[in-house]
Amino acid sequence: MPNDRIYNFSAGPSMLPLPALEQAAREMTNYRGSGMSVMEMSHRSKVYLSIFEETKADLKRLLKVPDTHEVLFMQGGATFQFSAVPLNLIARTGKASYAVTGNFANLASKEAGKYGNVEIAATSADKNHTYIPAQSALNIAPDASYFYYCANNTIYGTEWKYTPETNGIPLVCDMSSNIMSKPVDVSKYGLIFAGAQKNMAPAGMAVVIIDKALAGAELSVTPKIMSYKVAIEKDSMDNTPPCYTIYMLGLVLKWLDTQGGVEGMEKLKAEKAKLIYDVLDDSKLFRGCAEPEARSDMNVTFRTASEELDAKFVKESTAAGFDNLKGHRNVGGMRASIYNAMPVEGVIALTKFMRDFEVHN
Ligand SMILES: Cc1ncc(COP(=O)(O)O)c(C=O)c1O
Repeated sequence: MPNDRIYNFSAGPSMLPLPALEQAAREMTNYRGSGMSVMEMSHRSKVYLSIFEETKADLKRLLKVPDTHEVLFMQGGATFQFSAVPLNLIARTGKASYAVTGNFANLASKEAGKYGNVEIAATSADKNHTYIPAQSALNIAPDASYFYYCANNTIYGTEWKYTPETNGIPLVCDMSSNIMSKPVDVSKYGLIFAGAQKNMAPAGMAVVIIDKALAGAELSVTPKIMSYKVAIEKDSMDNTPPCYTIYMLGLVLKWLDTQGGVEGMEKLKAEKAKLIYDVLDDSKLFRGCAEPEARSDMNVTFRTASEELDAKFVKESTAAGFDNLKGHRNVGGMRASIYNAMPVEGVIALTKFMRDFEVHN
């Protein structure tokens, strides 16, 4: 890494692959002889449409998206989808089941409650979201329009290690903080969405992967800009799409290809996460916040025995060039977000810093 870059452990927006940033910099003022920046292009132009189509095709190929499903690029980040999902999908029965395993699933369930009857299929709130409920603990309403869960809980550092079985009820998943980190059987899902700013691109956009059979049964009040049916029909261009963000996603996907795709990322993330969890398990000073079976490979939450020492760790780690290790206020302690673009050297350097900190404290 160039020595003016630091290891940024931010939960999002977070590190992007350096080759993608460098290519964007090279192409900033004149994209491949077009005489203009991608920011300045008409989204209807031939040159931009080729960026758009290639990015979409790369995403489909990398995640093996079946032809039954469509890939959409929507503005408004992941939070926009908290509303779009119920508006588009809850009308079938007027009811939806949600698993609340963290802050964002909770927000999504509250939003859905405005548009229909929401039943909580499971919650981990009793232990401050340190665990993921087992399949046998999921109480999915048999007449739910869909079952919703959040695959990786960014704040609490827990991750679902299984795909919930819903017995035919459409499965809806927020994959904002672990999409593209491993292969996914997309055919099992009615809808997947993910905010871009962790493993994909700058903030402000969500990628939506939807089973086309689910579109079109929306509530009549659904704003046109939120309609999956319209987005499918207009190929994400009912209005001006987030052109530059899509271009950046394209560059990140090209980088991903050079790293072995999502299969390559799966190996890498397991290696990186193990490095930090091994330090936590060996340590007398640090302990992990999440239950071991539920530990996230993307967001590692940990703490010491005292808030003072946590604050000291955050201060000293920042001074040593490790940024954004302070935990979310709901959990306290520390959080190391180690998304796809975090190099393994960054994680090794952090574990060395943690071991040294333990010796001195
Ligand atoms: C799992 C998850 N869902 C949703 C969101 C909200 O994303 P946005 O800020 O793009 O609306 C976040 C943000 O960090 C997240 O981690």
